[in-house]
Amino acid sequence: MSEDVTVIVLAAGGGTRMKSKTMKVLHPIAGRSMVGHVLQAARALEPARIVAVVGHQREQVGPHIEELVPGVVLAVQETQDGTGHAVRVAWEALPAEARTGTVIVAYGDTPLLEGETLRRFAAFHRESAVAMSILTGVVADPTGYGRIVRDEAEGVAAIVEDRDAGPEDAAISEINSGILAFDAEFLDAALPRIGNQNAKGEYYLTDTVSLARQDGRTVAAFVLDDVMQTEGANDRAQLATLAAEMNRRILDRWMREGVTIADPTSTWIDADVKLAADVTILPGVQLQGATAVDEDAVIGPDTTLKDVEVGAGARVVRTHGELAVVGPGAVVGPFAYLRPGTTLGRGGKIGTFVETKNADIGEGAKVPHLSYVGDATIGEGANIGAGTIFANYDGIAKHRTHIGAHAKTASNNTFVAPVTVGDGAATGAGSVIRRDVPPGALAVSSGPQRQFDEWVLRKRAGTAQADAAARATRAGTGAATEGSPDGGTPDPEVGEAPTGG
Ligand code: UD1
Ligand code: CA
Repeated sequence: MSEDVTVIVLAAGGGTRMKSKTMKVLHPIAGRSMVGHVLQAARALEPARIVAVVGHQREQVGPHIEELVPGVVLAVQETQDGTGHAVRVAWEALPAEARTGTVIVAYGDTPLLEGETLRRFAAFHRESAVAMSILTGVVADPTGYGRIVRDEAEGVAAIVEDRDAGPEDAAISEINSGILAFDAEFLDAALPRIGNQNAKGEYYLTDTVSLARQDGRTVAAFVLDDVMQTEGANDRAQLATLAAEMNRRILDRWMREGVTIADPTSTWIDADVKLAADVTILPGVQLQGATAVDEDAVIGPDTTLKDVEVGAGARVVRTHGELAVVGPGAVVGPFAYLRPGTTLGRGGKIGTFVETKNADIGEGAKVPHLSYVGDATIGEGANIGAGTIFANYDGIAKHRTHIGAHAKTASNNTFVAPVTVGDGAATGAGSVIRRDVPPGALAVSSGPQRQFDEWVLRKRAGTAQADAAARATRAGTGAATEGSPDGGTPDPEVGEAPTGG
């Protein structure tokens, strides 16, 4: 830890151009708030303390920052009177003994800023042994930025703000990124000397440059080639531009780490996602939050996973998943919906049009088709028939279903929870299982089939259906007519389907 580094993050501005009820610095990019990215970069410095200046909507911003950086010092700037004023408020929030060493100032809305850049900048400042250092960049369009005015010896003479710049200064393409480093003693003496006699009537932090020069001190400039790192997002269009750029950088990093990304233009990966080498990502994939994918797994196409853990060699196809765990070698989809609390064991399967929630599906167990599995434990090697519903909700409370190891349940079953099917048990097709099934038993709940011979020939005469039946009867190609227990009963009313008893 660098005992002597304090980072001040300015996040008091209103961000009115976002036109949002959400404060600007809280808008997310790659799964983290903008200020969250800056704080993450700040942490790379291992600073002794971080001070965040909050103002507008501080009841939103303050708790968010405190959650990300426990122990952060929050300084409240009641009115936004300029960056110089904001830093003074931060400074006053610190005890006298903490006002030492190096002070780094950054803004809360520059999400692309990298910790490594701050580390290099802080090291540069320390080695230069100057009053202050400026992280600068050379840009094509310097409009809006403070310009870096150099003296004959190429030293930094001043920062002239955009609104105060005459034509000559306005033409300068080297700009102040906003990230500054100060010697604490100098900053302490300079802050009270900043005035507000300028075009905006604000206290400019950038006036510290001319103050240093007045004191005969040197100001150093560290030119950053990758200027996008210090770009801020003021509106939604800039937010989208920065988000796309961050995504591009994240994908680039993973590809260098050995991840195959078939189509970077349709793949979005959040900053906190972890991928192993030899993971393959097919087109149309979004990996969000704390999703982690182990080696040789294949994700996609068209899959969104948020906070999902995918084991080695697993395959997840056209799936939407959240807070779920997919075991090694397991297969999910196409068209699966994994809701929170789903755990699929090694080599298991959650197949086509299957929705799961709070479901613990054991090793090698399979739910292959058209099912809802809610609040269930399915033992290893069990197989759930097509079209099965785990009826977990009785209208008042949720209940759990347990299916034993290697049980084989048939198609179109309903498990009315709470209910338990024992190990190695079986069920018949179309069963509604309300009572526990002992291990090894076969449970059948659908009634015997009732049949009304030649019903169609009599009641649907003249239709294609009746004609087909007549042809089959004449040719003797129909199924043999079995003796039906209901053989002699009168016909049911037309329109009322014949049903099992
Ligand atoms: C500032 C710099 C300018 C630099 C540019 C880079 C000053 C005077 N100017 O200009 O040299 O090129 O950034 O983007 O420093 N903030 C507060 N409280 C305030 C005022 C601002 O917290 O009272 C915060 C804002 O929320 C924002 C940051 O400080 O995150 C910068 O403020 P802004 O008003 O955008 O400064 P610029 O005019 O862009
Ligand atoms: Ca700005």
